[in-house]
Amino acid sequence: MAKILVIDDEAIIRDRLKSLLMLDDFDAYSAENGVEGIKIFEAEAPDVIVADIKMPKMDGIEVLRRVKAMNKNAEVIFITGHGGVDTAIEAMKEGAFGYIQKPVEYDELKIEIDKAIERQTMQGKLDAYVRELQRSVDEWEITFNCVKDCLSIHDEDFNIIKTNKAFIETFGFSEKELNVKPCYELFGCIESDVSQCLNIRSRESRVTCVKEMYHQGLNKYFEITVSPIFTKDGEFKGSVHSFKDITARKLNEEKIKASLEEKTLLLREIHHRVKNNMEIISNLIELNIDTADDQKVIDMSNEMKNRIRSMSLVHQSLYQNDNLSHINFRDYTKDLTADILNSYSVEPSAVSVTIDINDDVYIGMDTAMPCCLIINELITNSIKHAFKKTKEGRLYISMKATGHQSYELIVRDNGGGIPEGFDISKSSSLGLTLIKTLGEYQLGGKIEINGDDGMEFKLSFKELQYRKRI
Ligand SMILES: Nc1ncnc2c1ncn2[C@@H]1O[C@H](COP(=O)(O)OP(=O)(O)O)[C@@H](O)[C@H]1O
Ligand SMILES: [Mg+2]
Repeated sequence: MAKILVIDDEAIIRDRLKSLLMLDDFDAYSAENGVEGIKIFEAEAPDVIVADIKMPKMDGIEVLRRVKAMNKNAEVIFITGHGGVDTAIEAMKEGAFGYIQKPVEYDELKIEIDKAIERQTMQGKLDAYVRELQRSVDEWEITFNCVKDCLSIHDEDFNIIKTNKAFIETFGFSEKELNVKPCYELFGCIESDVSQCLNIRSRESRVTCVKEMYHQGLNKYFEITVSPIFTKDGEFKGSVHSFKDITARKLNEEKIKASLEEKTLLLREIHHRVKNNMEIISNLIELNIDTADDQKVIDMSNEMKNRIRSMSLVHQSLYQNDNLSHINFRDYTKDLTADILNSYSVEPSAVSVTIDINDDVYIGMDTAMPCCLIINELITNSIKHAFKKTKEGRLYISMKATGHQSYELIVRDNGGGIPEGFDISKSSSLGLTLIKTLGEYQLGGKIEINGDDGMEFKLSFKELQYRKRI
């Protein structure tokens, strides 16, 4: 229940009001002058004080001043004689809630007291609301300033209206500078290229835009994110900018890029050297051929030279292209076929070659090497054994994907096929042994040979998975 203090030097009034207030369930107190009244006020903290103005020791106005100094929310209602109206009006200016003329009608006073209490309740609610508002503003401010990235809020005309601590510390703009200029003047970005302005971009696209920026003065890289702000009706109201310092990441990226370029160069160089070394071996064999008399030795040496050449072509293909681990199988097969035909001095018009391989077939080095050696053996055999008796030699080579990383290689010629009585499975000749070893064991594939009408060789295999060797 509300506490009411009645201060009046007239005992009749004082006691009557106190009794009536108590009948109305108020906690009522009374004092006969201002000094006593203030003591009770300090002890009981009443909500409303009903005070006479003219009193001995301390008058009502002084009571009002002291009460308001102690508790702004306590309300003072004056009761005054006819002559005191002007003083009462003055008192209202000093913060009194109201005044009632003597003789006091209790009902009139009660209405005034109820109004004062209602105002107190409203004021209490308002104070709580303001406190809560202040708390959430403080919380927001603390959070805003806790963010490590620089943050700025811009209005619809691009003026910076709020920045966090990190922003001020990083860019060092004074409050005065920030207040006057729009962001594009501060950062000087719009003069260089308007289309680069994220503020404009995010405003037009209505979505968050991100870009990287180098700040020359600070020698730092930032990732800037600009998110447009719209009202409920979709009207552009400004934007929130965040500047993330990505200097360390950028420098690392540059280091990684440089190291990658260096390693790519090195890898290219290694393939080049391996290819050169193979060429040297090939040339040494060539020298041997020049001094040999025995045709068998010459033929064997030539075949060996071609095998090495087919391998060196793989390395050449690797260092000449962007992809350092996979070769373009169509290009490789074209080069290899031309190379072998040339080494056997076959006129290009004497053999028509069809290479049926899609341009997007790229084979990893580990798989490509045995494949290439197999093709080399098969083309060599076609030249050596098939096209001898054929006027118009036809060579067909295809490599088709049959599933995920699965392929089928076909090499076909239009020669006489396998001679009668020749059993391939039992053959121990080097070429076929090599084909079987590479196809079945190294690649884990399945070989089918059909030698009835010309020679057709089929190999189904799966690309080998890269195994770490060191
Ligand atoms: N495309 C082919 N056409 C006809 N006969 C072939 C063909 N390929 C292989 N042969 C026969 O199979 C044999 C074994 O071949 P290979 O192992 O490569 O040995 P080489 O080529 O040294 O004779 C050949 O000698 C040849 O009789
Ligand atoms: Mg052979």
